[in-house]
Amino acid sequence: MTQIKNDLFLKALRGETVERPPVWMMRQAGRYLPEFMEIKAKYDFFTRCQTPELASEITVQPIRRYGMDAAILFSDILVIPQAMNIDVEMKAGIGPWLPDPIQKPSDLDRVIVPDINDTLGYVMDAIDMTKEKLNNEIPLIGFAGSPWTILCYCVEGQGSKNFAKAKEFCFTEPEAAHQLLQKITDTTIAYLKQKVKHGVNAVQVFDSWGGMLSPTDYQEFSWQYIQQIIDSLKDETHVIAFGKGCWFALNEMSKSGASALGVDWTCSARNARYLTGGNITLQGNFDPSRLLSPPAEIKKMVTQMIREFGKDKYIVNLGHGILPNIPIENAGAFVEAVKEYKEEA
Ligand code: CP3
Repeated sequence: MTQIKNDLFLKALRGETVERPPVWMMRQAGRYLPEFMEIKAKYDFFTRCQTPELASEITVQPIRRYGMDAAILFSDILVIPQAMNIDVEMKAGIGPWLPDPIQKPSDLDRVIVPDINDTLGYVMDAIDMTKEKLNNEIPLIGFAGSPWTILCYCVEGQGSKNFAKAKEFCFTEPEAAHQLLQKITDTTIAYLKQKVKHGVNAVQVFDSWGGMLSPTDYQEFSWQYIQQIIDSLKDETHVIAFGKGCWFALNEMSKSGASALGVDWTCSARNARYLTGGNITLQGNFDPSRLLSPPAEIKKMVTQMIREFGKDKYIVNLGHGILPNIPIENAGAFVEAVKEYKEEA
């Protein structure tokens, strides 16, 4: 394997000592960037995902501007249901829109576990092209949604504050729900393995809606499937598990074989370290809305956050995706603060 020039991110994933922690931002290729908006004005969402030239260009945009320590491939978690024969559209002002959601057990008949190269080959082409553009400067992260988070969209048909329909489906049709979760899991494992073959250096599983479930239901409907993904991938690559609102599961997650765990801003660094036994790399957890504070204040808060997590076994990130209304210089202050970080003597 070719050596990556800036390997801070990989060092942190391996738990090695670093001069400063690495930094990237969830959803760093996004609507707060004017150069992203230029491409968005010309091409619809899935065209951007499906055209390797566009996806790779959008992936490197934030890197060119800010020099993060890792890139994350521009795509979406919802390409998985699309590949499984569940239509997904992206509607302006609404977001994800599934015209034919899963509402009853017989709806599962049309859901397939697809051949990855037939359905998602464009993602692999985007990875190849992105790797070329990155020229081994920094690692590339591949990702997928957690099976539970994907089920949420498949059943609800769109975003939701509480995903009540998705929960109703799980609690009234548990057998069908588990069948769907297993199909999503099988597809996701094959998909992520293919990404690793194409050279991604780590994969992150986004469980954006795990925090909608009680701790007991979380084990049954979300975590056991994420654990399957980790088991299948951990010998091939680093797996980062991010569960929004899932601090209650951090202890169990720390024993899973994941290389790192994402933490959102509602959990203190101290609590996250305590729950995970201090041994695993943690990633997070700046409140995305806090990027609306003045740059000088952002820098102070980021420095404080690094002190609290400790510089080792730590990846600086937000606690969830960056918001579209963040001024570009504020996002810059976030990255700069990490690069300027010096350990106190
Ligand atoms: O992090 C990155 O920069 C990589 C790109 C990325 C996107 N989506 C691009 C995108 C990643 C990692 C995702 C993951 C994703 N997609 C998640 C999990 C992470 C999270 O933030 O919770 C979820 C839940 C989705 C589903 C989804 N796709 C939503 C809720 C939306 C936003 C709808 C809206 O309009 O607010 C999308 C669309 C989307 N995916 C955008 C981007 C940059 C914005 C719309 C656009 O570009 O046209």
